[in-house]
Amino acid sequence: MNSSGQQKAAHVTTRRLLDMKQNGEKISMLTAYDYNMARILDRAGVDVLLVGDSASNVFSGHSTTLPITIEEMIYHAKAVVRGVHDESGRAMVVIDMPFMSYQLSGEEALRNAGKIMKEHECDAVKLEGGRVIADTIKRITDVGIPVMGHLGLMPQSIYKYGSYRVRAQEEREAEQLLEDARIIEQAGAFAVVLEKIPSALASNVTSSLTIPTIGIGAGVACDGQVLVVNDILGLNREFHPRFVRQYADLHSVISKAARQYVEDVRAGSFPSADESY
Ligand code: KIV
Repeated sequence: MNSSGQQKAAHVTTRRLLDMKQNGEKISMLTAYDYNMARILDRAGVDVLLVGDSASNVFSGHSTTLPITIEEMIYHAKAVVRGVHDESGRAMVVIDMPFMSYQLSGEEALRNAGKIMKEHECDAVKLEGGRVIADTIKRITDVGIPVMGHLGLMPQSIYKYGSYRVRAQEEREAEQLLEDARIIEQAGAFAVVLEKIPSALASNVTSSLTIPTIGIGAGVACDGQVLVVNDILGLNREFHPRFVRQYADLHSVISKAARQYVEDVRAGSFPSADESY
């Protein structure tokens, strides 16, 4: 929305994502955590920017998503929203609700979702979980806050699973996941992320729902795909899961640039006369 309350013409809305599913147009989503990256990704035509709680890992260096706080998420979200608004303003911005900001009670979840929506002009929140949080999803969507769901591997439950392996490989868990997807659709979710599940199951969920599915490690049949931006840019040499396609090697680019800078400073060749006043 602009300051007069008018929607920018090309801004991606929940309605647009539904239309994309119906028209068979694939949805592209990437994470973003800061202003400059949000500008670049928005301008590149990414449909949805997710301010993921993966910021806890890739931005702050924690080993899980659990430590990140709601205030830290809001800090990242504000920067991303500013980036989108200063660029084409096209991308939808979705904010992850961090661990324990929505699990205690529906009331607290609603208060925190409201806080996230009020403190900056994002479009939606994302919550992990199925039937257990269905009432919470309903409560949040009932007041007009769009909710994206997240099923399959749910990183906020990593201590329960004990590993990051592919989820729902057994029939019982696969049936439960399909049921959970139907339940959160019923509760009002406008889309659902499917993380690290077999492609055949993701395909089944995708054709069973009217809302779009966005896969990460869930095969090509999903209505859209999401990846962590740091992973596609090759910023972390140690992280190479099978589902990530690396589109650039920024680790090498940055190291080379930094090494050259150090060399130039040490040699006294930076700054030159042109670079001085
Ligand atoms: O936090 C995150 O980056 C996510 C994506 C992996 C979907 O939830």
